[in-house]
Amino acid sequence: MKIGIIGAGNLGLSIAQGLLISDKITTLHLTKNKISSIKEYDEIENVIVTNNNLLAVENSDIIIISVQPNIALKILDEIKDSIGENHIIISTITGLKISSIEKVLGNNKKIIRSMPNTAVSVRKSLTCICSNETGKDYLDLCVSIFNSIGKTIIINESKMQSATVMCASGIAFWMRIIRAMAQGGVELGFEAKDSLEISYRTAEGAINLLKTNKSHPEEEIDKVTTPSGCTIKGIIEMENKGLSSAIIHGLISSYGKINKIK
Ligand SMILES: NC(=O)c1ccc[n+]([C@@H]2O[C@H](COP(=O)([O-])OP(=O)(O)OC[C@H]3O[C@@H](n4cnc5c(N)ncnc54)[C@H](OP(=O)(O)O)[C@@H]3O)[C@@H](O)[C@H]2O)c1
Repeated sequence: MKIGIIGAGNLGLSIAQGLLISDKITTLHLTKNKISSIKEYDEIENVIVTNNNLLAVENSDIIIISVQPNIALKILDEIKDSIGENHIIISTITGLKISSIEKVLGNNKKIIRSMPNTAVSVRKSLTCICSNETGKDYLDLCVSIFNSIGKTIIINESKMQSATVMCASGIAFWMRIIRAMAQGGVELGFEAKDSLEISYRTAEGAINLLKTNKSHPEEEIDKVTTPSGCTIKGIIEMENKGLSSAIIHGLISSYGKINKIK
């Protein structure tokens, strides 16, 4: 596949890194303003680094647009005359509706809206995608692209703001939870480095229990909570301090904010 990424910043480059270790790419064009900061990519076979967005569009079948929301319409306007009916346009831009993209490019173009997270760089993103009417036959192709850098779920566009909070901001939320466990471990006497490793590897173990056993978290909790034991004591204290409530209200607050962003 010939893929162009317009906006090779944090997310665009993470997608590039994930795609480069998959076998999906024939050519990969990466664009940004200050190309000197990613010049090492130019040395990779079949990767072209440029600040010429039109060059990337004209030499790619799939265009991933990953610029900041405030310049999204300007970029779409810049490339619109080079977008043909065979191109597949994938936007990662937070808050930019498909209808706004259609207004610039036309509703006869295949448009996919996606919400990945930065774990694309290690091929572990959970990416939610949806499409316009013209693009719906290409959703499976886009699922296969995003599955090469993680796992993909097709959703209704009305859920995209929730997906942004859960998937994209979710990385930051999980980092705080892992950090809190690590800090607690230091208080219990571990060196910071060991404590961090214990924290994230235990999280990894918990996740793999859910994935392998296809169980509910509460079932796994029951297996480790001895009656009147130390685990239930810790859970009660964490909930007493608002653990679940803090997380749920954090998500709701984040969702409230994203809905105010124009
Ligand atoms: N980061 C995430 O986890 C995440 C997750 C989901 C969705 N998103 C969304 O994805 C988009 C990108 O996010 P990000 O975190 O990757 O932002 P970012 O790091 O700021 O990257 C944006 C990139 O766009 C480039 N750019 C600016 N003007 C350009 C132009 N005229 N032509 C081509 N490239 C241009 C910038 O290059 P220069 O620095 O050289 O100007 C920069 O590398 C945003 O809309 C964001 O909301 C991000």
